[in-house]
Amino acid sequence: AEIMKGNFDHFMQKEIYEQPESVVNTMRGRVNFDNHQVTLGGLRNYLPIIRRGRRIVFSGCGTSYHSCIATRAIFEELTEIPVSVELASDFLDRKTPIFRDDICVFLSQSGETADTILAMRYCLERGALCLGVVNTVGSTISRETHCGVHINAGPEIGVASTKAYTSQFIALLMIALVLSEDRISLTERRNQIIDGLHALPAQLTKVLAGDNALQQLATGTLASSRSLLILGRGLQYATCLEGALKIKEISYMHSEGILAGELKHGPLALIDENMPVIIIMTRDSLYPKVQSAFAQITARKAQPIVICNEDDEGIPKDVRTIRVPKTVDCLQGLLNIVPLQLLSYHLAINNGFDVDFPRNLAKSVTTE
Ligand code: G6P
Repeated sequence: AEIMKGNFDHFMQKEIYEQPESVVNTMRGRVNFDNHQVTLGGLRNYLPIIRRGRRIVFSGCGTSYHSCIATRAIFEELTEIPVSVELASDFLDRKTPIFRDDICVFLSQSGETADTILAMRYCLERGALCLGVVNTVGSTISRETHCGVHINAGPEIGVASTKAYTSQFIALLMIALVLSEDRISLTERRNQIIDGLHALPAQLTKVLAGDNALQQLATGTLASSRSLLILGRGLQYATCLEGALKIKEISYMHSEGILAGELKHGPLALIDENMPVIIIMTRDSLYPKVQSAFAQITARKAQPIVICNEDDEGIPKDVRTIRVPKTVDCLQGLLNIVPLQLLSYHLAINNGFDVDFPRNLAKSVTTE
């Protein structure tokens, strides 16, 4: 195991740093950047059935669930099929109706998470078409689903999932790209996304190069914080949830991902000069709305740290920023999550916590 860590101190750190390569491995042999085509051998025989589905249900736990939230909007935009996203345990608790013409997609790094397996079997029994999006070849979910996509991110050892998230995100996006391949009206949008995927590895490398600043943040202002709110909306809501999960999991600091649109319905009461806040403000169509959330919290004396695009001149000069390259709106979350992964890593290291094996948690939860 020591050898496998290479030059890194922890598996989690190694896995964060692997992302420029692991995303390429997810796309290898599938995304053709020259002719803008995407092929997924694992779905080939099922595409007509999937396209005829009346709805798509994504299901998973933890980070896998967040990858579903992250891609739901672009999936609906490209396929024009309604997508619902379910936490596997809640889905089972509700015994929700599932029909033969439903398409159910199960997300799992390990392919062995008990709740996700049970949700899958529930859907199989009801005759739905079941897809698996898993990292582990030969796992239960990989074997028992009708078809699917292996994310090919390579083994993930750290309990806190990092590279699996970015690869699951891309796998779901590739499915949406395949399903929409014959929609002429979407050609331009699809090409823009595929070009964005092409540029992604170099942009990830650029984000990773900002690691020192995040280490400083973790040892500076945030070191003694007891809580951290992560605010954003639209495509970045999933980034907020996933960033907060990383921070909770390994640094044991309370952290919450908050949808900026919900701020006035409760969370605003938490805001004062002592509440640490990160706000995700990369440029997309919702930017003005996030700006207004920024104004609401600064009016209450919070001093948010802003995740924004590298060339954004619109952020007040005295505000602390974490800058990331700009990409297509629906891919921006792949870059924005990386600083939060790094920040959680440093927060945990500062406190001397076991980053790869956080207390009370398991890599794969095989009991209900
Ligand atoms: C556990 C792990 C998480 C993971 C979740 C789902 O809680 O600690 O990192 O996201 O299980 O695991 P899966 O293998 O199904 O993606």
